[in-house]
Amino acid sequence: MSDQKRIAELRKQIARHDELYYRQTEPEISDQEYDALKRELADLEAANPELDFGPSPTQAVGDDRVEGFAKVKHGVPMLSLDNTYNEGELRDFDTRLRKIFPNESALPYLVEPKIDGVALSLTYEKGKFVRAVTRGNGTEGDDVTANLKHLPGIPAELKGSGHPDMVEIRAEIYMRNEEFARINAEREEAGLPVFANPRNLTAGTIKQLAGIGDRQLQLVCYGIGDCRPLIFETQSDIHAAIRDWGLDGQEKLWRVEGIDAAWKAIEELDEIRHQFAYWTDGAVIKLDNLAWQQEAGFTSKAPRWAIAYKFAAEQAETLLKAISVQIGRTGVVTPVAELEPVQLAGTTVSRATLHNEDEIKRKDIRPGDTVLVQKAGEIIPQVLKVNLDKRSAGSQPFDYAAFLKEQGIEAERIEGQAAWRIVGKDDPTQLRRKLTHFASKAAMDIENLGEAVVDQLVSRELVRDAADLYNLTTDQVLGLDKFKEKSTGNLIRAIEASKQQELWRLIHGLGIPHVGAQASKDLARHFHSLPKLAEASPEDLEAIDGVGGIMAKAIRDWFGSPEHQALISRLQEHGLKMEEAVDEAVSDGPLAGKTVVLTGTLPSLTRDEATAMIEKAGGKTSSSVSKKTDYVLAGESAGSKLDKAHKLGVEVIDEQAFRELVG
Ligand code: IVH
Repeated sequence: MSDQKRIAELRKQIARHDELYYRQTEPEISDQEYDALKRELADLEAANPELDFGPSPTQAVGDDRVEGFAKVKHGVPMLSLDNTYNEGELRDFDTRLRKIFPNESALPYLVEPKIDGVALSLTYEKGKFVRAVTRGNGTEGDDVTANLKHLPGIPAELKGSGHPDMVEIRAEIYMRNEEFARINAEREEAGLPVFANPRNLTAGTIKQLAGIGDRQLQLVCYGIGDCRPLIFETQSDIHAAIRDWGLDGQEKLWRVEGIDAAWKAIEELDEIRHQFAYWTDGAVIKLDNLAWQQEAGFTSKAPRWAIAYKFAAEQAETLLKAISVQIGRTGVVTPVAELEPVQLAGTTVSRATLHNEDEIKRKDIRPGDTVLVQKAGEIIPQVLKVNLDKRSAGSQPFDYAAFLKEQGIEAERIEGQAAWRIVGKDDPTQLRRKLTHFASKAAMDIENLGEAVVDQLVSRELVRDAADLYNLTTDQVLGLDKFKEKSTGNLIRAIEASKQQELWRLIHGLGIPHVGAQASKDLARHFHSLPKLAEASPEDLEAIDGVGGIMAKAIRDWFGSPEHQALISRLQEHGLKMEEAVDEAVSDGPLAGKTVVLTGTLPSLTRDEATAMIEKAGGKTSSSVSKKTDYVLAGESAGSKLDKAHKLGVEVIDEQAFRELVG
């Protein structure tokens, strides 16, 4: 292919990957593959200066702007960094700089971790937070203030004194690995597509028009843009100010002289970075002196005084021995890759999640394949792709449905989702999960009925569902491993006592998809009765604060199943408490049927005291503000909930008004 043709092709590919990465936040290729495409294009362009195709992606930063956000111009453009995976090129960077400063034999450098998140610019005026803007196209970005202003990493006011009249703090917003794992696990359970890495999830989160919900995001501040007056002389000064102002800075940095020392620092970072709570994909090397930075200058997309050295993502090839499954609390079946153990990022990896049927199809993964696994920020490694050169001749595409059948797993694909969920009640793994949950502390709280006992009850076929627990006889329990007379008596009594458990515990124990402990409490408080809950229409359900459309549908579906209806009537026959008396004093109290959200610190009441008063007056509390909220009780330094109340027109009261209301 001619260079000309290849250049055109590369430009098209890169434009597509830019769109996927920056705007849709769902890239198809790894950073390394992307960097390689860009490198190839830059080399071809350099070799063919006579070919003019107009502005090239190698000369510009990406563009993350999307509709729905106000556009704000940066005081100083937000550039990108040149990057390299290669020590020689890093040394060339130093050589180029030393030509500009011929009297310096060892330039002063700062070596910082490069955190893989999303670039953000925070404007503070006289120490007060004004706005947060994404990089956008480098010149102007999206104003994401409303989504981010309550993050702990963005204080409303800077600490200390001597703040400039205005400063743009340059930062990376990112998600910790654990938070990433938590959100993906929830999504997997809910049958939603999972995010490939914390960076994509961060990018997707900050651009949500509906707000960022309960997702936890962190910031690391690493520099400045515009600053008036300019009060810094070195990059080190900036880091010191970031700390003094109470902003989150780098967890570790190296101030060094000369490129040899910088290289040593990079190697050190590579040693320790896996212990960080977040994903670092490289190091950034910056000339420390700001006046020298000005002298070195910029290209159209990046400074000449800094470079990113990227660590190659940790990947390894290994054999996919088999595919197995894991079954979650609500019966979602997740495929898992069983791998020939391989060393990766400091640990031995023998399993990797395959997420769901669609992921297996998309990557065409088959047992017996040699696969590339990667650990990049996620705690559980993932299978990136198959090495097709090593695929054996007779290999057939993996048929997930047939596979589940073969395994004796009766499951069906959830409509509109990528997840499969167990049907029928006979799968022992699923039954164990259900029973353990039913008896757990968070639900019916049946003492001594842990996993080991449940295992035996299921494998001896003494129990086929939760109602069977109440049929257990002393003799049956005595026959279990390790049970003596005393322990048997204890277990039988604990099971008997659970019949009087609070209604919300029973609701939670049923294991209805999407219905956690808080939702169970909300439902119990609203209906005071399991049969009434079972009959509630989707509209009734959705009218309850804290219950959304997905949960309402899950509840309807659950109670709609004949099998579940039978379970409920058997539990009822066993004498489980299914109704909860409505406290008369409460039912016509001044807050009867009202929902109150607490926010901020009240002058003389603790949260618990205020909650008790609300409940005594017949009301209930909720943790989030919605259209169904009746009052927001706001105290000192109330945050996003107060804003949301104003936005939705919910009545806001202070402690005084609250006291008058409840009398
Ligand atoms: S300095 C003038 N320092 O990496 C550009 N950037 O690939 C100054 N990043 O756009 C950037 N950690 O979003 C700098 N310690 C660090 C960084 C860092 C992460 C991001 C930043 C930048 C991108 C370039």
